[in-house]
Amino acid sequence: MTQPHDRLLIIDFGSQVTQLIARRLRELKVYCEIHPYQNVTDAFLSDFAPKAIIFSGGPDSVMREGSPRPPRAAYEIGVPILGICYGQQVMMQDLGGQVEAGEHATAEFGRAYVSPTETRDALLAGWFMDGSGREQVWMSHGDHVSEIAPGFEVLGTSPGAPFAITADPARQFYAVQFHPEVHHTPNGRTIYENFVRLAGFTGDWTMGAYRDEAIAKIRAQVGDKKVICGLSGGVDSSVAAVLIHEAIGDQLTCVFVDHGLLRLNEAQEVVSMFRDTYNIPLIHADESELFLGELDGQSDPETKRKIIGRLFIDVFQKHANDIEGAEFLAQGTLYPDVIESVSFSGGPSVTIKSHHNVGGLPEKMGLKLVEPLRELFKDEVRALGRELGLPESFIGRHPFPGPGLAIRCPGEITRPKLEILRKADAVYIDQIRKHGLYDEIWQAFVAILPVRTVGVMGDGRTYDYACALRAVNSVDGMTADYYPFTHDFLAETATRIINEVKGINRVTYDITSKPPGTIEWE
Ligand code: XMP
Repeated sequence: MTQPHDRLLIIDFGSQVTQLIARRLRELKVYCEIHPYQNVTDAFLSDFAPKAIIFSGGPDSVMREGSPRPPRAAYEIGVPILGICYGQQVMMQDLGGQVEAGEHATAEFGRAYVSPTETRDALLAGWFMDGSGREQVWMSHGDHVSEIAPGFEVLGTSPGAPFAITADPARQFYAVQFHPEVHHTPNGRTIYENFVRLAGFTGDWTMGAYRDEAIAKIRAQVGDKKVICGLSGGVDSSVAAVLIHEAIGDQLTCVFVDHGLLRLNEAQEVVSMFRDTYNIPLIHADESELFLGELDGQSDPETKRKIIGRLFIDVFQKHANDIEGAEFLAQGTLYPDVIESVSFSGGPSVTIKSHHNVGGLPEKMGLKLVEPLRELFKDEVRALGRELGLPESFIGRHPFPGPGLAIRCPGEITRPKLEILRKADAVYIDQIRKHGLYDEIWQAFVAILPVRTVGVMGDGRTYDYACALRAVNSVDGMTADYYPFTHDFLAETATRIINEVKGINRVTYDITSKPPGTIEWE
């Protein structure tokens, strides 16, 4: 198969940070895909035709019988390989080196320092330049390589990893014990940069090219059939809709499902932007009665998500049936939603939350899917949106989850609680904008808590809801840190919410990072 881009294959052995490898590469304009090791067969390799391969880390031990392996062909197709952590150990063992079980003295978890050996290699161009003679790296390994495979040289060592950086320059096989993809390896990007340069990548992954290819693909997939696109008002579905509209014009009808769980004025804003600015046929399906009715009395987070996911699909289908010739459903599914990561047991990783784009889809859906953003990370979707000319105010919007306010309302969802939440959220976002912080924060919102507390206002006693403010910084929602507002900002915001929003008499600030928390409350 001829591919429009040079492609790099990441074989996933189950590391928690495999996605970060993909991100680093995409930043370098290298097209890459992550595939679990079980799926990477000889046939897959020849079809994918990678220009280089990366072996991810993973939690298993190469000394365990049956531990994850790449196919033998990976070493034989003549492309450069970079092995990381478990990926290094696998490569060494497969090619004739030795790995030893972790002992206390050699296991390393966390920050470590690598020093260079006498041997120089282009993989390390730009390393060891600051005069300290060492580089900080992030280690997370129990086992370690005790003997390198024939043909390999040692380029760097750390106290716990005598073979921290190894290379077989003739075959262009490179292997490191640490994780260059995490930000605790501050110069890690350089390793990827050098690796892809050595492998001959030209950095041909640009949004302009992606847009043209995506348009051609959509036309080929859809033909003269009709597509309906579920609009949520968020960046992803909006970019998907505008892209599809560019590809097939009025064969696209957008369906905006108003589930009654939207933010203040959100429905009007979305409808006017799509109808008035883009002239895209749009059905505004006000289904709040249906959704809120079925959610009535439900307080379990997964049950709520499942109900919303199921109703979404039902509503789409209902409208699809009204559009003659509609055979496709478009969704703004992103790459992080579709990566099938590997868990320690070799199966799919644990479901933390059922995201409604993917988890809620019924098996038997009468529509085929068009998902033109399946290969993109969030920041790439924004770049594509700019390429398509969407207004910056829209592209810069904080992410908003498909299940909407439902997952910001732990416990039972009631209309009065939703009203209070909407108002509090609007005040909070207004505060953030007024202080010029909106673009600095990745996502901010209010959650209304299922608890009422006693307060005093004026001379009277109050017994009202408590709410939590949430604001996080993140790159892609996979990990997040809470935003360090000043105390003045928090105090002013709390005062405004309590004064302006009837029904709330206590405001808290959520300072949990992810992990161990998640960004949303449910
Ligand atoms: P969590 O709460 O899992 O959220 O840390 C990570 C990011 O994903 C968003 N989110 C969703 N987006 N459908 C979506 O489209 C969903 O079901 C969903 N659940 C969470 C969340 O807002 C955050 O940006």
